[in-house]
Amino acid sequence: MKVLVTGASGFIGSHACLELLNAGHEVVGFDNFSNSSPESIERVKTLSGKPMRLVKLDLRDPDGLDALIGEGFDAVMHFAGLKAVGESVEKPSLYHDNNVLGTHHLLAAMERTPCRKLVFSSSCTVYGAVEKNPVDERHPRSAVNPYGKTKLDVEDMCYELAAEDKRWKIALLRYFNPVGAHESGRIGEDPQGVPNNLMPYVMQTAVGRREFVNVWGGDYPTHDGTGVRDYIHVVDLALGHVAALDKLDSFKGAQAVNLGTGRGYSVLELIAAAAKAAGKSIPHKIMPRRPGDAPAVWADASLAKKKLGWTATRDLDQMCADAWRWQTGNPAGYGAADVRA
Ligand code: NAD
Ligand code: UD1
Repeated sequence: MKVLVTGASGFIGSHACLELLNAGHEVVGFDNFSNSSPESIERVKTLSGKPMRLVKLDLRDPDGLDALIGEGFDAVMHFAGLKAVGESVEKPSLYHDNNVLGTHHLLAAMERTPCRKLVFSSSCTVYGAVEKNPVDERHPRSAVNPYGKTKLDVEDMCYELAAEDKRWKIALLRYFNPVGAHESGRIGEDPQGVPNNLMPYVMQTAVGRREFVNVWGGDYPTHDGTGVRDYIHVVDLALGHVAALDKLDSFKGAQAVNLGTGRGYSVLELIAAAAKAAGKSIPHKIMPRRPGDAPAVWADASLAKKKLGWTATRDLDQMCADAWRWQTGNPAGYGAADVRA
């Protein structure tokens, strides 16, 4: 298929482009480089040995979208978006404008062409305060911050569009906690500033950029008192997108599918696995709970297996080994090649 990938040079988008190329798809990507570098796609081209066009374009540029989408695509994979929860609390209108209005422009541009196939990056954040684990797709949805609200709004937009026009086939992929990097160590996560998420913080502590890991809460009702999450290897996640694309014809309108492993690990278990991968101990201190954090969240991943024929195969040790290879091989991320805006 000829696939347009938005947010192509970002963390998950770059891994998805690589797996799409490996699966034989033709890929055109675009990004505004607000949180990524075009260097990631240079490396994707080298890793795959295949050509790929990358265009600088903003989701909020309707004319630019029309020109690009008008070239004709079989499907769109939509990763572009802002994703920092704290920033979304400070700048809710920026998040609405970029993620919701941006997606509205994308869908409107698609409607001016015959293309009605979409794979969207949703998130387990749409489950709000999780009531019971494992979480399946029927769990009530709610937003606990403006970032989460943008995911709810885009999901709703997709449900409404597909109810109106039966040609739409939309996979709303709800990711759990994506971590790791490609096993080559050439592409990975390149967060700006001090990371909020656990894995990049742990990796930066292991290389000595941070003094110790703050373990947010040691008194949760979990087996060791620390928070439990469903960490998923980014390559498994990317392969889940390729599987969703292959199975889109079987979708009835817009449908949500969890992408997780179905298994939860605690903060201390992740730190221990990272220490094993790095071959050194990783200093950490138990601190008070982080406001808004759930004690435990993990996926019921059975629908993805049934509907997409996909399951995650990479375990926590591999997630940490690959994240470590990326971190040590690229201590400054994409570094000098980074021209992000
Ligand atoms: P990322 O920031 O690495 O990638 C997003 C990309 O979109 C970046 O390259 C950024 O420059 C681009 N972008 C942002 N706004 C744009 C715009 N207006 N026009 C064009 N490009 C734009 O983030 P990621 O981790 O790869 O996340 C990809 C998607 O998956 C996002 O929608 C995110 O909300 C979603 N998601 C991520 C996680 C996670 O933990 N990483 C979890 C659940 C869902
Ligand atoms: C966060 C976002 C969520 C997003 C997800 C994936 C919040 C409230 N939620 O989820 O919307 O979809 O990332 O990008 O930000 N932890 C520490 N020390 C740290 C960092 C984290 O102990 O320095 C703990 C947390 O308390 C949690 C676990 O590690 O138990 C994972 O945290 P994190 O990586 O931030 O992801 P989530 O909070 O699950």
